[in-house]
Amino acid sequence: MSLHQLSIYALCGSLRQVSTSRRLLEALRDGAPDGVSIEICTPAAGLPIFNPDDEGDRTPLSVRAFAEKIRAADGLIVSCPEYAHGIPGSFKNALDWLVSRDEVPFKPVMFAHASHRGDLVLELLAEVLTTMSLRIVPEAFLRLPLAGRSDEAQREILEAARRDGVLAASLVRFRRAVLATER
Ligand SMILES: Cc1cc2nc3c(=O)[nH]c(=O)nc-3n(C[C@H](O)[C@H](O)[C@H](O)COP(=O)(O)O)c2cc1C
Repeated sequence: MSLHQLSIYALCGSLRQVSTSRRLLEALRDGAPDGVSIEICTPAAGLPIFNPDDEGDRTPLSVRAFAEKIRAADGLIVSCPEYAHGIPGSFKNALDWLVSRDEVPFKPVMFAHASHRGDLVLELLAEVLTTMSLRIVPEAFLRLPLAGRSDEAQREILEAARRDGVLAASLVRFRRAVLATER
């Protein structure tokens, strides 16, 4: 990591075309302060179903490419909906591919949550990611109630968050935590 540039890989847990989780990530990317760049991906879209028999030499190219993006990033953002009190299966599948690999341990991660509900998925993600030895940065947590709102209302909430500096403030807190551990 350069002292001036923090490179973040943002994982969207929803496959929906009009995903509020993705809209939140896009707003973070577009409102990122100087020195922070964000690339968004939807890992569930391109990965096969996890099978431990397909690890090692047999690891699919799509998984290798995903893992390399994570290795190259200084930190991750996870934005993921709650499905039936759980982590969406497609997103958990993407995480499962990473469990036995060496890219994720100690990687800093912040949560961006696009719903006023779904506290359970936050708890479950924290449990899973901590088990995978990622380092959650709680002070960077960002929550905006986009879910269930009209496109217009979502736009207004995101615009207000940008104007009031809420988006940038989360990223600044995240950057501070990442830099503190790099020293
Ligand atoms: C199949 C399904 C199950 C859901 N289950 C829950 C749930 O258990 N708890 C909850 O708070 N929201 C639940 N929701 C609502 C989503 O979590 C919420 O709409 C979320 O913001 C969708 O994220 P997205 O816009 O990024 O796709 C569910 C939605 C779907 C489609």
